[in-house]
Amino acid sequence: MIFIDACKRKETPYTPIWLMRQAGRYLSEYKEVRAKVGDFLDLCRNVEFASKVTLQPIDILDCDAAILFSDILVVPLEMGLGLDFVKNEGPKFRQCIRNENDMKILQNEAYKKLSYVYDTISLTRSKLSKDKALIGFCGAPWTLATYMIEGQGSKTYTHSKKMLYSNPNLLHKILQSLSDELKLYLESQIKAGVNAVMIFDSWAGALERDAYFAFGFKYINDIAKYIKSKYPQIPIIVFPKGVGGFLGAFKNIETNFDVFGIDWGIDLEYAKNILGQNFVLQGNLEPCRIYDFDAMECGVDNIIKIMGKQSGHIFNLGHGMLPDLPRENAIKLIQMVREKSKR
Ligand code: CP3
Repeated sequence: MIFIDACKRKETPYTPIWLMRQAGRYLSEYKEVRAKVGDFLDLCRNVEFASKVTLQPIDILDCDAAILFSDILVVPLEMGLGLDFVKNEGPKFRQCIRNENDMKILQNEAYKKLSYVYDTISLTRSKLSKDKALIGFCGAPWTLATYMIEGQGSKTYTHSKKMLYSNPNLLHKILQSLSDELKLYLESQIKAGVNAVMIFDSWAGALERDAYFAFGFKYINDIAKYIKSKYPQIPIIVFPKGVGGFLGAFKNIETNFDVFGIDWGIDLEYAKNILGQNFVLQGNLEPCRIYDFDAMECGVDNIIKIMGKQSGHIFNLGHGMLPDLPRENAIKLIQMVREKSKR
C-alpha cells in the first residue's frame, strides 16, 4: 500500500493522496445513500450504507486511501449524551457536561457500543482493493470535550475555557475518561482491519501553547503511545488544526506518532523546515482552491515544489472538502498530483 509506505517514509512511485471529508455532500452518490436513511447518525449506524459511502471516493476519485465513514461525535454519543444533527446548524448534544454532577451521565465502555463502526470496517476492508489503505479515526479528547461542554460547535469555547481556568481538575477528568475510551476505540478499529489511524484535533487552535500541551496534546500523545506500544506497525496521523503559531514546540518533545497533519493556514515550507525531519507531513492544499481549476493547479505545483518528490509527504487538503466544491476538479486533483509527483 503506497499510502502506508509513505506514512513510514518509504520510497513510493508518486506522492499518495486522499482528501479529508472525501465522502460527503459534494458527491451526488453520497446524497442518494444519505436520503435513503434520512438521518446522518442512521447512516453512521447502517453498516452496509456506511461501508458504501466509505468506498465511493475510491471508485469516483481513485484516491490512495479510504477513510472510515463515521463521525468523531459517535464516542460522546455512546458515552450517553444524546446527539442530534440539526439541519444547517450542525451537531447538538441533548445534555452537556458543565459540573461534577453532570459527569454522572457519562457511561463507561462506550467503545463496546460502537460495534457498528467495527462491522463497517471489516465489511469495507473485505471490499477494498489490497493496494488501498483504510484509515480509522477518532476525535482528540480536547476537541470532543469542547462539544460535550458547549453542547454544540462554538466560536469562542467560553464554557470549555472557563472550566480550563477555574476548574482544571474537572476538565482533566473529562479528558481522561475520553482518552480511556479512545484508546480502546482505536484498538478495536485496528482489530477490525484499519491500516492506519488518525486523530482529529479540530479545535487545537482555540488554546494558547502551554494550555494546549497540558490539556490537548498530552492526551493525544497518551493515546498514540498506547497504540504504538501494542501495534507498532500501524501508522498514526495527528491533525492538530490551528497550531501554526507554536509549531516549533512540537519539535523537541517525545511523541509517538508518524504523520503530522498540516492545516492550510500553515506555510508548508515553514512546517517542513521545522517538523519535516521528525514527521512525515500530510497536507495542505487550501480546500477552496478546488473551486477554480487554475487556482488548484497553482496550489498543487507549489506544494510539490516545496515537498519535492522524495518520501516524507502525503498529499491532502488543509481541512475538509466542502459540500459545494466541484467534483470534477476533485477528480482532476487526484490525477494531477499523481502525474506531477511521479518519481
Ligand atoms: O473524512 C471523511 O470522509 C470521513 C468521515 C468524517 C465525517 N466527519 C463525516 C461527516 C470524518 C473524519 C469527520 C470528522 C469530524 N466530524 C470532525 C473533525 C474534522 C474536521 O472537519 O475538523 C469534526 C469537527 C466533526 C463534527 C461534525 N460532524 C460537524 C461539525 C458536522 C456538521 C458540519 C457539516 O458539514 O454539516 C458533522 C457532520 C458530518 N460528518 C458530515 C459528514 C459527511 C455532514 C453530514 C451530512 O449532512 O451528510
